[in-house]
Amino acid sequence: MIQISIATNQQSSVSVFPLLDGSKLTSSGESIKSDSVVANFLAAGEHQGKYGAMRSVYLNDGRAMFVGTGETSKLNLHKLRTLAAKVGAKLNKNNVEQADIYLTELEITNASLADKVQAIAEGLWLGLYTFDTYQTQEKEAKTELASINIIVDGNVSEAKQALMAAQAIASGTIFARDLGNHPGNICTPEYLGDQAEALLHPKLKTTVLDKAAIEKAGFTALLAVNQGSDIEPRFIVMEYNGANNDDAPIALVGKGLTFDAGGISIKPAGQMDEMKFDMCGSAAVLGIFKAVTEMNLPINLLGVIPSTENLLGGSAYKPGDIITSYKGITIEILNTDAEGRVILSDALAYAAEQKPAEIIDFATLTGACVIALGGQATGLMGTSDDIKQGLITSGQKTHDRVWEMPMFEEYQEQIKSKIADIKNTGGREAGTITAACFLSRFVDDIPWAHLDIAGTAWNMKGTDISPVGGATGASVRLIVDYLRNKIEINPTVS
Ligand code: BES
Ligand code: MN
Ligand code: ZN
Repeated sequence: MIQISIATNQQSSVSVFPLLDGSKLTSSGESIKSDSVVANFLAAGEHQGKYGAMRSVYLNDGRAMFVGTGETSKLNLHKLRTLAAKVGAKLNKNNVEQADIYLTELEITNASLADKVQAIAEGLWLGLYTFDTYQTQEKEAKTELASINIIVDGNVSEAKQALMAAQAIASGTIFARDLGNHPGNICTPEYLGDQAEALLHPKLKTTVLDKAAIEKAGFTALLAVNQGSDIEPRFIVMEYNGANNDDAPIALVGKGLTFDAGGISIKPAGQMDEMKFDMCGSAAVLGIFKAVTEMNLPINLLGVIPSTENLLGGSAYKPGDIITSYKGITIEILNTDAEGRVILSDALAYAAEQKPAEIIDFATLTGACVIALGGQATGLMGTSDDIKQGLITSGQKTHDRVWEMPMFEEYQEQIKSKIADIKNTGGREAGTITAACFLSRFVDDIPWAHLDIAGTAWNMKGTDISPVGGATGASVRLIVDYLRNKIEINPTVS
């Protein structure tokens, strides 16, 4: 991650000024308007302030880059975040090593200085993300962007706090992206366990169960899915105690399927490689833990991650099999490719046993969710209106958006089994919802929300703030905002 700092005046020879629609300037731009080079440039009218358009002019003592903001009345934090990402990419491409940016001067309805600093810093860090661990060829030598100063006029300590929060959020998001982007032969259940254990904080305790311990604990549904794989499963439990000991934690449960071939109900070959991303739910949980511990948020969290591959070995679980899950509920397997809900059943039941205040789970659970919502929103379901409303609000603020689907009682009919308690598929109709209905059987009466991130967890084309095609780190920004709203105080950042 590049260095980002808060400053109150010019630090670098490259400065980035907003150019509003109609070629209007903010105060920083106004202050250099009398320079003849700038005056000529503006008079030429080539740059009309179109959103994302960038042009540089060279002054005697440096360079001024003007970035178009589009219609100022349409600006919001998401557009600011994306604009910062575009600016970062452009500076990096143009071999700029250090620059000052004046984007906090933009007025955004209902956004504080802290909100703007956070959005700008997130955009820069996330937009400059790369994943080249496996590229051994040396790259063409070029000057890499190394540091940015966000110039602020106002409360500097508020801006610095916001920058530290953004750093924790970005590093959590990048951690989640990296975990997702590593291939299935590297990012195995054991690897996920090691990565969880490598997150260190005095108030964080992590326990990783290996296969023997999983057998002893009785996580039988996880073991059933693991039967087709030659590598061991893991069951990861993380406890972060940032608040009072007796405060019930918020439980975060993440699907950690390190590769999903579908099992005996095998998937088609096309794009099957993308099923290395089937552990992005667990990556979200780990990313959230990284961000929360870096911010020292005063909150208690319980993280639970069941992890395995879903393959087709000779001992693989089969369509028709009936499994007795950890909770005792029997599951008739009709499609071995509906494995996510199977492993989550044990993790949710375990989480519910710990009597958390609420449970939120994250899973690349259904292809149907990708069809319904595409990459623009995570599917939201659950039993708690409070949690759902909180997630919707945080989704709007962070642009890590969610969209609710109904969980009417009637949908539960679709997962009734003739010979077991429930079956693991509810047919093609409302596939995202019936998957959630299945999960709902394992959370007792603990307030619960389910996030189906199948469409949002990765994006092969890339976006401005997630430019490398691959894992996006979806749900890290969402949940950190949700947790901060719960705490209702500014985090004390270490
Ligand atoms: N991991 C997949 C869901 C998925 C598919 C996510 C494509 C993103 C893109 C999950 O394990 C799965 O295979 N679900 C099945 C369920 C079906 C068999 C009831 C699906 O969605 O097809
Ligand atoms: Mn599957
Ligand atoms: Zn899966």
